[in-house]
Amino acid sequence: MTSVSTQRILSGMRPTGRLHLGNYVGALENWVRLQDAGWTNFHMVADWHMLTTGYEHTADLQQNIWDMVLDWLAAGLDPAKSVIFVQSAVKEHAELHLLLSMLVSKARLERIPTLKEQIKDLCLDEQTISYGHLGYSVLQAADILLYRPTHVPVGEDQVPHVELTRELARRFNHVYCQERAAVFPEPEAQLTAFARMLGLDGRRMSKSLKNAIMLAEEPAAIEKLVMSAYTDPKKLRKDDPGRPQADESDGHPGCVVWEYHRKFNSGEADAIAVECRAGRLGCVADKRRLAAVMTEALAPIRERRERWANDPDAVRDVLRDGTAKAREVARETMDLVRSAMGVKSVVEPS
Ligand code: TRP
Repeated sequence: MTSVSTQRILSGMRPTGRLHLGNYVGALENWVRLQDAGWTNFHMVADWHMLTTGYEHTADLQQNIWDMVLDWLAAGLDPAKSVIFVQSAVKEHAELHLLLSMLVSKARLERIPTLKEQIKDLCLDEQTISYGHLGYSVLQAADILLYRPTHVPVGEDQVPHVELTRELARRFNHVYCQERAAVFPEPEAQLTAFARMLGLDGRRMSKSLKNAIMLAEEPAAIEKLVMSAYTDPKKLRKDDPGRPQADESDGHPGCVVWEYHRKFNSGEADAIAVECRAGRLGCVADKRRLAAVMTEALAPIRERRERWANDPDAVRDVLRDGTAKAREVARETMDLVRSAMGVKSVVEPS
């Protein structure tokens, strides 16, 4: 069995600006847990990935990177333990992407479910999709393989990309490493346990659905948002019995307030469900209690964010140091890759 410290993760996020609780619970919280358990963490701002679906909208890109990195630091990513870097500052991602792109067929990329969904959601036309967009999962494979990680913590929707990454690792090793040590380990997808968080309206939490609570939300806003949260629509009066859990008979997705209690107030959640079902707890009182608990739970995150936001030079240092560290590993990998492939240039100094 490998020891804990030999476990290495690479994970990334597209820089969409400030993060919400769904991003926290689905990913960040897990990254911080692994970091604190002594794993070797690499965390990448996937800014080139933003271009695959929005190449013409780059005006907010730098601000969005900044806002997301502040939320990473606020959530507890510690630059002394985790490498935090920006993809576009490590050009090796582009080089490995190009080299790997030779090892995969166009048909294979067209079968990736995430791409098919994006085409449907964004109302794109399969015939006019860009070369870069079609190949973004190869870019993701390059992002991952450059750091030769053992695990890739991701959400369910990203599993097909990790599968492609494994195929490319195998293919590369098979084609170029017959007579030498394999360059790439096959990384495993690592799914997050509490992967999904409901939004305030009972649908999946998403910034674009406008049903999110942001990670660094102010206390007054938390209270206001929680008061608007979806509960059991059949519980009209405070002494009507309520349904904390989902009920398929009328499509009730479960009470959002109870779901948040389970996440942020796990010690009281069971008792709250009992009181609610018995008609002894009204939604208004229940929401007030939740708002208080969430405000307290999120206070350290909000405070950490403030501290980093007030020291932009320190944040720039984090990214500069992280990028330098990432580049070092990426360079080592590319040396191995070029040697194995026999594309090490004769004009390169030896
Ligand atoms: N494609 C991922 C997403 O949309 C972001 C991403 C890019 C990523 N590169 C990665 C995630 C490498 C994990 C590993 O969420």
